[in-house]
Amino acid sequence: MYADASSGTTRAFAVKEMDARRIARASCGLDARAVLEKMREEYETQRACACAHVVKVYECARDARAATAKLVTEYCARGAVMDARETFEPMDLADVRRILRSILRALRVCHERDVAHHDVKPQNVFVAEDGTYKLGDFGCATRVARDATTGEVELVCKTPGTPAFTAPECCEGEPADGFKADVWAAGATAHALATGAYAYRAENAWETYQKILQCPLDFADIDARGDEAFSDLMRKLLDRDPTRRLSASAALEHAWFARDDA
Ligand SMILES: Nc1ncnc2c1ncn2[C@@H]1O[C@H](COP(=O)(O)OP(=O)(O)O)[C@@H](O)[C@H]1O
Ligand SMILES: [Mg+2]
Repeated sequence: MYADASSGTTRAFAVKEMDARRIARASCGLDARAVLEKMREEYETQRACACAHVVKVYECARDARAATAKLVTEYCARGAVMDARETFEPMDLADVRRILRSILRALRVCHERDVAHHDVKPQNVFVAEDGTYKLGDFGCATRVARDATTGEVELVCKTPGTPAFTAPECCEGEPADGFKADVWAAGATAHALATGAYAYRAENAWETYQKILQCPLDFADIDARGDEAFSDLMRKLLDRDPTRRLSASAALEHAWFARDDA
């Protein structure tokens, strides 16, 4: 975070700095140029999704010689909705509703603009000074291609960023609809916030994927909250069949969101 006083007023920005050579050394198969290119893609996709519920992105400054890049975004003063703790207090459902609604609104815009986020989770939802929830961290986001004649989205082989939030159909690297995978991750995020624990948690990524593939999701803690409309929505977001799973835009029409929390 740094302050820019050039306009006379102090304004805070969040700056994500990247040392491409270091990242390239740590990740097999990528060279520093490719890492820098990924940073530019992150900037382009996040910029393409500009809306009230996506963290605003201002600039991507790359230094090819030093192999470093800086992504400058809006600063969300209240940080992420949740840090990386594994268990936490279950959240008030009115707050879960505000957060989930914001994520789905962000995803509706991303998907309309043919961008799949691929890393929706509580740690990537940020809270602005005024309390607005914003989806950030487009580090895993990709452009989704469409069939020129049918307009259908092309399925991609992409394992999303974080195992615990991965949709069942993405756990084995098979081609899948990135938009529906984002909706699963939004559901898994709401599930975590409402129950106080991740639905799927294991020692490592592989074990987490096995659990997701083999164990039906337990809705007992969701149902225990005693809100039928919420239980219904969660089952429709966390439907194991991506063709039946709601889209972000259809989910926003669900009765649970008709309640006004303003
Ligand atoms: N716009 C922002 N406002 C405030 N803090 C931020 C912002 N973006 C990121 N952060 C902080 O930096 C951390 C990492 O940022 P993120 O963009 O999620 O990158 P990555 O997860 O790829 O390291 C976040 O968990 C948060 O603590
Ligand atoms: Mg992140």
